[in-house]
Amino acid sequence: MDGAILSYDDLRNAPDLDSLTARAAERGLTPGWIDREAPILYREPHTDFLPAHWKYAEARAAMDGAARLIGTDLAERRNLIMRNPIPGNDIATARTLICAYQTILPGEQAASHRHAPHALRVILDSDGAWSIVDGEKHPMLTGDIVLTPGGCWHGHGHDGAEQAYWFDGLDVPLVHLLEPMYVEGHPDGMEPVKRVVTESPYRFPMERTLRELDAASPDPEGHFDRRIRYETPQMPTIAITMHRMDNGFRGRPYRCTANSAFVVMQGSGRSVVDGTAIDWAYGDTFVSPSWKTAEHGAAEDAVLFQMSDEELMRWARYWRFEAID
Ligand SMILES: [Fe+2]
Repeated sequence: MDGAILSYDDLRNAPDLDSLTARAAERGLTPGWIDREAPILYREPHTDFLPAHWKYAEARAAMDGAARLIGTDLAERRNLIMRNPIPGNDIATARTLICAYQTILPGEQAASHRHAPHALRVILDSDGAWSIVDGEKHPMLTGDIVLTPGGCWHGHGHDGAEQAYWFDGLDVPLVHLLEPMYVEGHPDGMEPVKRVVTESPYRFPMERTLRELDAASPDPEGHFDRRIRYETPQMPTIAITMHRMDNGFRGRPYRCTANSAFVVMQGSGRSVVDGTAIDWAYGDTFVSPSWKTAEHGAAEDAVLFQMSDEELMRWARYWRFEAID
């Protein structure tokens, strides 16, 4: 015991702070009191992620090119990822989210797999595409939202006549941070169908969205028009909020700690995020990063899908929301 107390004199008796810092560094210790290029604490929420906008018409043209040039036999998922344009970023769309557009041709199949990330789809143009989720075949029709929570087998196919397109949203960057990633292919390639379902906790059809939005009240604070939240206990890292904004609505500016991606499901309008005006139209995706001032307005009756890490922020007690007037 005495030996333990008496040893490490090079640290205990370091002649000056620089020597102590250098000698501590050799033991894997770094002082909390030195200035750092990336400080540990800062006064308010900060992100390098940028407001960004992807036009569906452009992405759709690129998907058409991809459909001509690569098949689902070579691309397990024929998708184009929306990369946030910050230096050094590879795939993330927002801090915790990755978004992509995906297309499938009539008769094609995208084999079943399962993985740690939670995933969802917003169906932009489809009559006849489907997903098998844990053995249940779900139709994917224009306006549907289909969930494939982490760990659920899921594969896609298309029995219709026209090429189908959808939006994919996942929490991949969060999984990369926390590191529970895995992916595995289904032993049968495409998972066999146990039954066909239309009612499912994994599918929110547009009729339901519109019906529930009709019954919702406008946001009393005026930041949003009518909103509903789809509860998704199977995928607690992703919150789904559906918005309806009447023609001419203009929301009050706000900022919050959640990172969000919005997908336009009806109509058109303008959002301003951190001073950047985003004129959105059907199928477009745009990102509102954490703590950037945002406001949303509609140029015609509009429905927006929003996925965010709000529930995760609330669970972690990191949630903050404030009006900017
Ligand atoms: Fe997947």
